Amino acid sequence: MKECKKKHIAIFASGRGSNATALYEAMKNGRIQGELQCIICDKEGAPILEKAKSWGVSSFLVVPKDFPNRQSYERAILELLKPFQIDGIALAGYMRILGEDIVKAYEGKILNIHPSLLPDFRGLHAQRQALEAHRTEAGCTVHFVDGSLDSGPIILQGKVPILEGDTEETLSARLLPKEHETYVEALRLFCEGALTEENTRKQSK
Ligand code: GRF
Repeated sequence: MKECKKKHIAIFASGRGSNATALYEAMKNGRIQGELQCIICDKEGAPILEKAKSWGVSSFLVVPKDFPNRQSYERAILELLKPFQIDGIALAGYMRILGEDIVKAYEGKILNIHPSLLPDFRGLHAQRQALEAHRTEAGCTVHFVDGSLDSGPIILQGKVPILEGDTEETLSARLLPKEHETYVEALRLFCEGALTEENTRKQSK
């Protein structure tokens, strides 16, 4: 049965925020039963900050270099999130690995998107890695976050073909709309309480 109360969602992002935008729009138009409560950003000047402002959504710039260590940085984020009673966190181009404090506080409630068909090509330049491996297909993965790099149970994957002459740029551009579609569907399922151990899938290491 569908859960009725809208889930409180936070998005963590570091850059242009196209995935964040897709999620925001799908929450706004009711496709996702969620309400975007706030954006956490770690990069000064990131375009996502302007976007959040234009949406009228609270945004917080929390820059790691302003803190003595990762633990105090993450504890500051946890304090910021508290008043919003967050049910789920969507990492959308958030370019750092979450530490133990956040992962524990929101266990099973943190989603990430990565531009490869995990477990292949973790880390940076995933699209370039797929090209260099001479694959004929690339894709994206939305998965739960378990604290290791691009690791944790897989929720959904989306695929696109790799075409002759593709570069990292052309492939990334072809993949991006697929990322948006896949992330919206995954967050929709999450917000409806439809994700279970049976319909997510362990990653091989
Ligand atoms: C996306 O390719 C996402 O998969 C990766 O970083 C990129 C972020 O793009 N983790 P955007 O900020 O969502 O436009």
